[in-house]
Amino acid sequence: MLNIKTNIAEVLLGGVTQACPEAALDVQTLVTWLEYPPDASMGDLAFPCFKLSKIMRRSPVQIATALAEKVAAECECVASAENVNGYLNMKIKGDYLVGSVLPEILTKGETYGAPDMGKGKTVVLDYSSPNLAKPFHVGHLGTTVIGHSLKKLHEFAGYKCVGINYVGDWGTQFGKLIVAYKKWGDRKTVEEGGVDALVDLYVRINNAISGNEEMGIVADPTLAAEARAEFLKMEQGDEENLALWKWLVQMSLNANEETYKQLGITFDSYKGESFYTDKMPAQINKLREAGLLTISDGASIVDLEKYGMPPCLILKSDGASLYPARDIAAAVDRKEEYNYDKMIYVTAAQQSLHFAQWFKVVELMGYDWYEQLIHVPYGMVSINGAKLATRTGNVVLLRDLFAAAIEKVRQIMDEKNPNLPNKDEAAEAVGVGAVVFYYLSNNRIKDINFIMEDALSYDGNTGPYVQYTYARTCSIMNKAAEAGCTIDAAMVASDAALALTMQESELLKTLSRFGECVLGAIRDLEPSEITRYILDVAAAFNRFYHDCSILSAEDAKVRDFRVALTAATRTVLGNAFELICLRKIEQI
Ligand code: ARG
Repeated sequence: MLNIKTNIAEVLLGGVTQACPEAALDVQTLVTWLEYPPDASMGDLAFPCFKLSKIMRRSPVQIATALAEKVAAECECVASAENVNGYLNMKIKGDYLVGSVLPEILTKGETYGAPDMGKGKTVVLDYSSPNLAKPFHVGHLGTTVIGHSLKKLHEFAGYKCVGINYVGDWGTQFGKLIVAYKKWGDRKTVEEGGVDALVDLYVRINNAISGNEEMGIVADPTLAAEARAEFLKMEQGDEENLALWKWLVQMSLNANEETYKQLGITFDSYKGESFYTDKMPAQINKLREAGLLTISDGASIVDLEKYGMPPCLILKSDGASLYPARDIAAAVDRKEEYNYDKMIYVTAAQQSLHFAQWFKVVELMGYDWYEQLIHVPYGMVSINGAKLATRTGNVVLLRDLFAAAIEKVRQIMDEKNPNLPNKDEAAEAVGVGAVVFYYLSNNRIKDINFIMEDALSYDGNTGPYVQYTYARTCSIMNKAAEAGCTIDAAMVASDAALALTMQESELLKTLSRFGECVLGAIRDLEPSEITRYILDVAAAFNRFYHDCSILSAEDAKVRDFRVALTAATRTVLGNAFELICLRKIEQI
C-alpha cells in the first residue's frame, strides 16, 4: 500500500501546491495523513481534508470535491474518489492490485515487503540476557522474543545486526550457589540433574537465607554472609571458586541453549557482565575527572536531581561496582567494537529508570552517541493469574512452559491428524509457536496473563490458527503443482482486467500493506504490529478460501489467478512469520 499511498500523495501535493503555491508540505507528510477507513464501504483509503483547511483557506468539503476530481483523473491506482463530509474517500483499482501488487509479491518472494533504510548501518541488540545460576523462567520470554523479533525486523530492513546475550554471569547469586553446592551438592548429582539440580540448589539456599513459613524453614541470615564471602573470594581471584563459577556458568548456558534452539534463536555474542570487569575502571576515572562523581554515604554516585531522577549509583561504599557502571563500560566497548548506529536494550519496564539514568550519565560524560541508545521496555507476565518470583521457587521455567505446550499440541495432533508425518517436529513448532504468538499479540508494554488453553486454541486468534492457515496455502500449492498449474508473474500481470471478487480484492489489499506494516513495527519497535497483521492476512485468506473455489474454479484463468493469489499469501505469511520467530510448517 505504500506505493499506492505515495502515488496518491504525489497527486494530492500537486493539487495543493497548484491552488496555494506557498503551502509548505511534502509527500511524506501527506502519506502519513492517509487513513484506512474503519468501514470498507467508505472506500479503501481516506484523506481528511480538514488538515488542509487552514493552509488552503477553504472548507474541507470544497477541498475534497476539488481533489476528488484530480485524483480520479491522475492516479493510475485509483478507481474512484469522492467527497464524503470533507473526507476524500478513494477506491483502489482492481487492475492495479492484480497487475502490479500481485506480480511484485511473486517476483520479490522472500524480500517482498523489505524496506531498505538499514543499508550500511549497524544495530546492536542487547536482549534475553538472563542472570545465570538463576532459573531461566517465563519472565525472560519477553526480552527473548521481542529482542529477537526486533533483530529480524532490522535485518529485514538491511541493517547489519549484532545480537548480544549480555548474560548475568557475575554477582552474589554465584556466591549463594557456591554455598549451596558446597553444603548440599556434589558434582555427579548436579551434572546429571542439569538445570533442575541448579534450580533446586538456588531455591533451597534462598529459602534457607530468608526462611519459608509454609515449609517450616527458619531464616538463617549467616548464610547470606557466607554467600557474600564466597563471592568476594571470586572477585579476589580464588582459584577454587573461579573454577566452580566457570563450571556453573557453562551448565546454565548449556541449559538455556536448549530453549533458544526450540525458539530458533542464536546470538552473535555472549559477552556477559564478567567481561566488563576490567573495562570499568577507565570509565569510572573518566567520571571522576569530569567531576561527575560525588560521595554519598560512602557510595560514589552521579547526582541527577537536575534531570528529575534519583542519583545513578556507580560504586558501593566498599568499592564494588554496580549495575550501571557495567552498562556504561559495555556501551563504550561496544561502540569501539561495532560502531553501531543504534543500540537497543530490551528489558522489563521495571528497569526503565536504570536505563534513563545511565543514558543521561553517558551524555554528561560527553559521549556524543548517547542518542543512539534506546531502551525498549515490556510489561509483566503472569501465568493463569499467578505472579512469579524466582527466589521462593514459585517459578515456571521457560523450558517447562514449552514442554507443556508441546505436549498438549501433541495430544491434539494425535486426535485430529494421527497420520501426520514428522509429528514431533510439528508439535514443537506449533507448541512453541503458540506461546510466542500469544506473547507477541499484545502491545509489548501491556502486562500479560498467560493462559495455555487460549494460546493453544486452533480457532482463536492464535499461533496454531495462523500456522494452520500457512499450511493450508502450502497444501493448495502442492495440489496445484500436481494438477500442472504454473505460477507466472507476467501472466498474472496480463490478467489485470480480471473482475475481482470482493474476497480477492480484500486479500490483495491486505497483502499490499505488508511493507508499510514492517516500517511501522520498526518505527515503534513493536513486533505485535506484525502479529496483528498476520491475523489480518489469515482472516482475509480464509474468507477467500471459503467463498471462492480455487483449484476447482471453472475458468482456467480464474483458477491460475487464485493459485497465484494463494502463492502470494504463502509468501507474505512466511515472510511475516520469520519476523516473529514463528516456524513455517507445511503440515499441521
Ligand atoms: N541480566 C539482567 C536481568 O536479568 C538484564 C540485563 C539487561 N541488559 C543490560 N545491558 N542491562 O535483569
